[in-house]
This record gives sequence, C-alpha cells and structure tokens, in this order.
Amino acid sequence: MASHTLSQLVGASLLLSLATVSCSNRADVAPIATLEQIMETTIEPVSDRVFEAAVWENGVQIGGPKTDDDWKLVQANAMMLAETCNLLLMPGRAKDDGGWRIRTQAMKEAALEAAKAADARNTDAILNAGTHIYQACLGCHLQYIPQMVAPPTKR
Ligand code: HEC
Repeated sequence: MASHTLSQLVGASLLLSLATVSCSNRADVAPIATLEQIMETTIEPVSDRVFEAAVWENGVQIGGPKTDDDWKLVQANAMMLAETCNLLLMPGRAKDDGGWRIRTQAMKEAALEAAKAADARNTDAILNAGTHIYQACLGCHLQYIPQMVAPPTKR
C-alpha cells in the first residue's frame, strides 16, 4: 500500500516535470560548444568538402566528386553547413539581432545553393556556390573578428 502510493507519487511528479519542460521557454535547447569549437570542428570541415568539389590547377580539375556517393557526400556536407546556421542563431550564441542574422542567412542561402548544385551534379554551379559561401564566411569575419582576418601580406 505504501509503495503503491510512492509509485503514484513518482508518476505524478514525472508528469509534472514533463509538463514543466514542454511549457518552459525551450530550456532544453541551449548553447554548449563555443563559437570557436563550432567553427573548427563543423563549419570549417564541412565547407571544405564543398570547396574541394571544384578545384582546378593549371586548367585541370583536381579531385572532385565522381560517383553518386561522392556527390551525395558533397550534398550532405552542404546541408550540414546550412544546419550549422541554426546553431549560430541560437539565443545565447547569436552576437546580435542584426548583422549576425544577415551574415548567417547569407551563409545558409549559399550552402543551400551548393546542396542544389550537388544534387544536379553540376561542377560549375558548385564552384559558384563555393564562392558565395566563401564570401559569407569573409563577410561575417570582417564584421565580427576584423582583428583575426589576416591583413594582406606585402611581397
Ligand atoms: C555569422 C558569422 C560567421 C560566419 C558566417 C562564419 N564565421 Fe567563422 N567565425 C566567426 C566568429 C565570431 C569567429 C571567432 C570565434 C572565436 O574565436 O571566438 C570565427 C572564427 C572562425 C575560425 C577560427 C577559429 C579559431 O578561433 O581558431 C575559423 C577557422 C572559421 N571561423 C571558419 C569559418 C568558415 C570556413 C566559414 C564559412 C564557411 C565561417 N567561419 C563563417 C563568425 C562567423
């Protein structure tokens, strides 16, 4: 009888805490990694997979996707780059409500453009999308970490 009451109590408090979670302001979704960690472990490697899909040296394409699986992987990395935009926009991580959103949106659009190009197995389109991605990286870095963007070296 006593244990029955206890299990009822446990059940009730479990329901209560579930209700609290679903009514809370998404307290279960919060930044964990630093921006630096996200850049180094996700944004940089997945964007590299897209950049590498269209590289020429002396007029000859180096590497690049060949099989269906190769293209699928380029597409998946482009989609993952778009997904990282959700991480960049998380409350507590986004640096502001203006430029940060615009810069992140630009990267998302370029990443989706790359995913579409990979879907179409179009190397020229991947090259263009890669340029747009690169511009989006640079645009945000110039605005938010100008001191980290290396100045042009004199030769
Ligand atoms: C919305 C803004 C934004 C976009 C878009 C962005 N970055 Fe960053 N990035 C930052 C900020 C801010 C830092 C500095 C993080 C820190 O160290 O606190 C950074 C740092 C970095 C670093 C250095 C990490 C370190 O500190 O060692 C690399 C590498 C990097 N970004 C790569 C990229 C690449 C590649 C892209 C595009 C595919 C990109 N970033 C797009 C904001 C952005």
